[in-house]
Amino acid sequence: MTKHFGSKLVNYILIFLFLLSTAVTSTTNDGSELSFTTVIDILSQNAEFSTFLLLIQKTGNVPYLNDISDFTLFAPINSAFTDLQINYIEQLNDKSNTVDVLKEKLNFDIENYLLHNFLLNTNNLDKKNNNIFKYINVFDNLNYSNKFPYLFKKNANEEPAYSINDIKIVDQNLKPNFQNAIIQGITSTINIPLNVTETIEGLKEKNVDKEKSLKSFEYDSMLQFFQQKIDEPKLLNIIENNTLLIPSDKNFLKTFNSIETNYLLDKFQKLSNNSKLNSMIKKNWLSDREMFIKNLVLRGIIGGNNLYSRLKEFKNSHHLTENLNHAKFNLTSNEYGSIININNSSSYKSNILFNNGILHTYNDLDFIGDNVTFNTEKYLHGLNKTEFVEELYLRNLQHLILDENNNNNMTIFIPESNMFGFTKSSILYHFSENAIWLEEEFNESNSFLNTILFNSSFCSSNKKLGSNCQRFKISKSERGYYINERYRILHSKPYQIGNHLIYIISNDLQLPGDFILSINPFYRCSTSLKFLRELDLLEFDTNKKGYSVLLPCFDAWDKFELNFDYINDNITAQELVMKNLIVNDLIYSDSRNETVYNSTNILGEDISISVSNSPKDLNINLNFSSFERSINVEKNMDIFFNQGVIHPIDDIYLPSSIEISVRDLIKLTKTSEFIEYLDKFKEKIPMLINGTSFSLLVPTSASLEFNGIFANYTKLEDFLNLHIINGNSTQNILNCDGEISTSYGVNLLCEKVSPKDYILKIQNDDDNVIRIIKKGCSTSDSNSCVFLVDRPISLSRLNRNKYHLSLPAVAIGLGIVVGVFFILSLLGCIIVIVMGKNNRGPEIYSNVPDVEADVDEPLLGRNDLSNLDSANHGTISNNHNTANVSPPPIHIIPQRHM
Ligand SMILES: *[C@@H]1O[C@H](CO)[C@@H](O)[C@H](O)[C@H]1NC(C)=O
Ligand SMILES: *[C@@H]1O[C@H](CO)[C@@H](O)[C@H](O)[C@H]1NC(C)=O
Ligand SMILES: *[C@@H]1O[C@H](CO)[C@@H](O)[C@H](O)[C@H]1NC(C)=O
Ligand SMILES: *[C@@H]1O[C@H](CO)[C@@H](O)[C@H](O)[C@H]1NC(C)=O
Ligand SMILES: *[C@@H]1O[C@H](CO)[C@@H](O)[C@H](O)[C@H]1NC(C)=O
Ligand SMILES: *[C@@H]1O[C@H](CO)[C@@H](O)[C@H](O)[C@H]1NC(C)=O
Ligand SMILES: *[C@@H]1O[C@H](CO)[C@@H](O)[C@H](O)[C@H]1NC(C)=O
Ligand SMILES: *[C@@H]1O[C@H](CO)[C@@H](O)[C@H](O)[C@H]1NC(C)=O
Ligand SMILES: *[C@@H]1O[C@H](CO)[C@@H](O)[C@H](O)[C@H]1NC(C)=O
Repeated sequence: MTKHFGSKLVNYILIFLFLLSTAVTSTTNDGSELSFTTVIDILSQNAEFSTFLLLIQKTGNVPYLNDISDFTLFAPINSAFTDLQINYIEQLNDKSNTVDVLKEKLNFDIENYLLHNFLLNTNNLDKKNNNIFKYINVFDNLNYSNKFPYLFKKNANEEPAYSINDIKIVDQNLKPNFQNAIIQGITSTINIPLNVTETIEGLKEKNVDKEKSLKSFEYDSMLQFFQQKIDEPKLLNIIENNTLLIPSDKNFLKTFNSIETNYLLDKFQKLSNNSKLNSMIKKNWLSDREMFIKNLVLRGIIGGNNLYSRLKEFKNSHHLTENLNHAKFNLTSNEYGSIININNSSSYKSNILFNNGILHTYNDLDFIGDNVTFNTEKYLHGLNKTEFVEELYLRNLQHLILDENNNNNMTIFIPESNMFGFTKSSILYHFSENAIWLEEEFNESNSFLNTILFNSSFCSSNKKLGSNCQRFKISKSERGYYINERYRILHSKPYQIGNHLIYIISNDLQLPGDFILSINPFYRCSTSLKFLRELDLLEFDTNKKGYSVLLPCFDAWDKFELNFDYINDNITAQELVMKNLIVNDLIYSDSRNETVYNSTNILGEDISISVSNSPKDLNINLNFSSFERSINVEKNMDIFFNQGVIHPIDDIYLPSSIEISVRDLIKLTKTSEFIEYLDKFKEKIPMLINGTSFSLLVPTSASLEFNGIFANYTKLEDFLNLHIINGNSTQNILNCDGEISTSYGVNLLCEKVSPKDYILKIQNDDDNVIRIIKKGCSTSDSNSCVFLVDRPISLSRLNRNKYHLSLPAVAIGLGIVVGVFFILSLLGCIIVIVMGKNNRGPEIYSNVPDVEADVDEPLLGRNDLSNLDSANHGTISNNHNTANVSPPPIHIIPQRHM
């Protein structure tokens, strides 16, 4: 300080002497004769500096330059200025208010041309380096109190060899003898280097060798980092007066994956463009960016050949430097400072000045990711899911994604696009504390399992689900993976961060809602829902345990036919059936084999339910103590609702407390006279006496009437026997397979016309056919069933056939007689038909059932004995066109279910 002050004092004296000398020399008019010269003198003695001198004079800098010493002045020669600039300079007057204008127009600042406290003398360069290729030195602004660093270069094979900031030095080492300073004449004006962003932008190579990987020479990542203008003052402060290491894109992408890159560079502009961003999120994000950039900043201007003089502060080893995160590096230079090595990586482009620092570029820095840690939150930002993160913060759930060590397994399902209306519970439903690797969960060996149930992290609903977590299921189909059959998972490989896995899903995952809304309409559960509605069971009280509802769906009730009619008609029975199927406990279809639940149903009865399943079976059996049959539940069909789980089942199970007798079933056929007839013969018919199983074919009431079968029908006992099926044949009729023996002694055969249309016919008689309309079985005996059929079996035809079969010889004779009758009756028929057609027209014919109709439709077998003889074996097959034949007057639309 005192030294500086002293030199100033000396300057004042010198100025005084100078003024004196100019007064003297003005008379001589010959500069070369002068014994005392200053910087200004030298400028004025050389015509090529006249413009620069004028500029200095007009800007009032002459006193300043005379005032200082120990400096280097870079003086642009006249050709450095454009005509326009010269024009400006000439028009200036010395009024100080024009100075600022000038500075602006010409971008002129005397300081840009001064290197303080240093006399750059090219003669003083190390003589040993005379034959060097390049000599590079960087003068940093700290040491030379300039606004920006200077780069001095010598190129041995160029003329002129020296340059400053890539401006050629043409007049070297002009030294005034009366001032401790030196002038270097240069070919261009000196401007402030570009700022860091512009500089990085300028690194792009125009003609890149296509053979090489482009990414090695591109710096878009770092450019983007600076372009975002995030926390800019701080960022610029970090790099100011320092050295910036710029990794190429290749280097960057080798260190960070695309999600991490998106985060660090704020690809989705959530940090830069969102003033409302949660302050905690913002703080962490900014600090990560700061940590990252500090890895790439070395303190001070480090470059060129004078590395070691810049590294004085690290005394223990002058090879060592450290970045702003205090990681230590070995720093060396090659080729006299034109390549800067950090540890083992060499700079690709070196010593590039920007307005307040210097940068070097690299392709293989291995420390750029050090001290930058990632967690699930940061990955979510990198996946453009910042809004989801904000929701978590809003609900105070951020701990789920902040777990730095990620020790706990976690899978998160994030909706693809933004969503609204989250609640704490619904957010938690997007999380699961399992590590769900879809491809492993659904791998080949498990391929029969196409659905798996998982626990979500939503477990707080004490009232509704007890202490259990709400569940969700994932199914795999050829269309991909789906959650709860509704939300598509967009990719089978998760994003992984530690033990946390992230999947993107098509839509916002909703928590299972109310019972009724949870049921897929395609499951066809409407009948059960109708019952539940009638019983006021669509809403459940909170039971602090959750509910399991076994719900007959898939039109199961339709298959139940007569039994359905019973339940449908009897509200007491209905309530028993439905309430027995609702359990006060959560039982899922992935329950372990042999688990036993001691529970209650909503009738309040204690029940136990044991689970049994066989390996590789797609169903489980729930063995309720309150049901005789074990209930078959398809695995993973579970439908979740806010109070528990629904199992759609495709069969009807009646609790043991419900009894439906054969008599009940006959009543439901509406052929109640049948009961009367049976009662009449209950002492005589063996099947009814000994109390074994039997089934009944009950013709519709109308068809009985039509066929003249009344209480006084003479062959009523035979008729009944013909319609009573042996109990051990019941399964054959139910399965429509095998012989069906009647109490009468003849056998029937069943035939499936279509999957739901079964017909019965007498063995060896293709024409005595009846059709099953409805069926139902007694609850106490599964071999005691009632089949409502569309018409009675013709006893008369049967008797003939029986006769025919048991007495072959007579039968032949009879055959002849019948043959004659047949021919006669055929003739008769033809006449009648022809006449009928001519006389009455088809409508009348088809509408009026009479003898002729019977001829065409012998299935309606008549009780009149006389008809036995006139049975027309041949004509029957002629006409199966039932449209022309009137059915019984009452149409029963067959329910073709079996
Ligand atoms: C950078 O150097 C300049 C000139 O010496 C100085 O004014 C400025 O405060 C320095 N900036 C920082 C951040 O150190
Ligand atoms: C750099 O300069 C450009 C253009 O002059 C400007 O848009 C940008 O904001 C500057 N960047 C910094 C970091 O100063
Ligand atoms: C960076 O990480 C290293 C080791 O991983 C640690 O020693 C150092 O303190 C960290 N630096 C900062 C600034 O956090
Ligand atoms: C620096 O170089 C020295 C000597 O070559 C070596 O011992 C040291 O491990 C290096 N340090 C680093 C940080 O690479
Ligand atoms: C990022 O998410 C926003 C919604 O938050 C959306 O508008 C934008 O298109 C997304 N950007 C990309 C690149 O997907
Ligand atoms: C995380 O899941 C893996 C299997 O995916 C399992 O091996 C590990 O034990 C689980 N860790 C914890 C803490 O549950
Ligand atoms: C209705 O069902 C209940 C329970 O099975 C039974 O007790 C009752 O007798 C039935 N009522 C009628 C009218 O069948
Ligand atoms: C269920 O009840 C049975 C008998 O009441 C008992 O033996 C069994 O331990 C109970 N099981 C559970 C899980 O409570
Ligand atoms: C369930 O347990 C039964 C009886 O122990 C066993 O036979 C069956 O194989 C088991 N099923 C499975 C899937 O392990």
